[in-house]
Amino acid sequence: MLKGKNILLGVTGGIAAYKACDIASRLIKLGADVHVIMTKAACEFVAPLTFKSLTNNKVHTSLFDPNEQGVPHIDLARRADAILVAPATANFIAKAANGIADDMLTSTILAANDKKIIISPAMNTHMYENQIVQENLEKLRGRGFVVIKSASGRLACGSVGMGKLPEPCDIVERVVQEVAFEKTLSGKKVLITAGPTQEAIDPVRYITNHSTGKMGYALARIAKAKGATVTLITGKTSLPKPIGVDTIEVVSSRDMFREVTERYFDTDIVIKAAAVADFKPKTVNDQKTKKENAKLNIELEKTDDILKYLGSKKAHQVLVGFCMETENLLENAQKKLLGKNLDMICANSLTTPGAGFGVDTNVLTLIEKDGSVTTLPMDTKENLAAVILDKISAM
Ligand code: CTP
Repeated sequence: MLKGKNILLGVTGGIAAYKACDIASRLIKLGADVHVIMTKAACEFVAPLTFKSLTNNKVHTSLFDPNEQGVPHIDLARRADAILVAPATANFIAKAANGIADDMLTSTILAANDKKIIISPAMNTHMYENQIVQENLEKLRGRGFVVIKSASGRLACGSVGMGKLPEPCDIVERVVQEVAFEKTLSGKKVLITAGPTQEAIDPVRYITNHSTGKMGYALARIAKAKGATVTLITGKTSLPKPIGVDTIEVVSSRDMFREVTERYFDTDIVIKAAAVADFKPKTVNDQKTKKENAKLNIELEKTDDILKYLGSKKAHQVLVGFCMETENLLENAQKKLLGKNLDMICANSLTTPGAGFGVDTNVLTLIEKDGSVTTLPMDTKENLAAVILDKISAM
């Protein structure tokens, strides 16, 4: 997702510096070319060799290194697509907020005033809450720096509170959101549904399906990275909530219907990736059904078809559905496109290798209202989400 992007990672001297190794590694795995600047204090915690080995690039630690070519702080700033400083100490924040350039990192930051700069503060709670630090952070925000909110928890000094460096995966996700995509969905409100619904039989048992929510969560994540304001309405899954996405958890198809329809008129784009149950028990027992009293048949009734309802009320919205079939993929998908008044349907076959429930890949055929059909090769759900969202942007 960061292929071809040059990310400059600044590491300052706090105990969380060890987590910067994980950050560098994750950025590399996403395809970025990572260059590291370490402050003198950071080198007390982690060896420059660690970053050199991870990034395969020279690590910069001094303004006055006779082995450097050119004017490194200017060149590094010029070449970077984004700068991430993680962890950012109170000392670094104070210097950056006041234009002090007394080492390689602060000099590079000063030379990068046309670049996206993301900082992730990490320090003791009292230091973090100190008005001086907060004023400096406010000043940096005012200058366009992206300041990642510190996490709360047990700190290395033993105190519990704000000031913890967020998880490396969450920091890297913020970098992805800032630099991975053009903001083609900026200003758009996107509503995405994901995961299975559960239809209660009694307080203990329910009917559900194999959906894990991966496709819907990938769509939410990429829509956010493309600049949209995203609401994710999700059935029960074990996936972490996507960063920066308003995530609403629901249980049944009825709950999903309510949450989706409440927001529909204030939404520009709806993508229904959820596997909504088509049937639910006609009556739900208040108490656990005992074996000896149980009838062996459960009477079912149809749930509301949420997407069909949305299609019947469609005004300005772009409406996209999913369908998973085991036979006659195109024919069934086309029927649903028309029957539910959709702008596009993303069809996948449960029998195709690499497609279906629980896997990280999918094989999709996109069918649009104008009849055009795009068959996509097997790809990650994230890459497919990007293609779907590009099609929607072009509509
Ligand atoms: N859908 C919905 N509400 C339902 C059932 C489905 O909103 N009660 C949506 C799904 O989220 C999906 C699309 O409709 O975007 C197609 O779902 P699918 O299960 O493939 O088709 P159905 O219309 O339910 O038809 P069938 O199960 O007979 O194939």
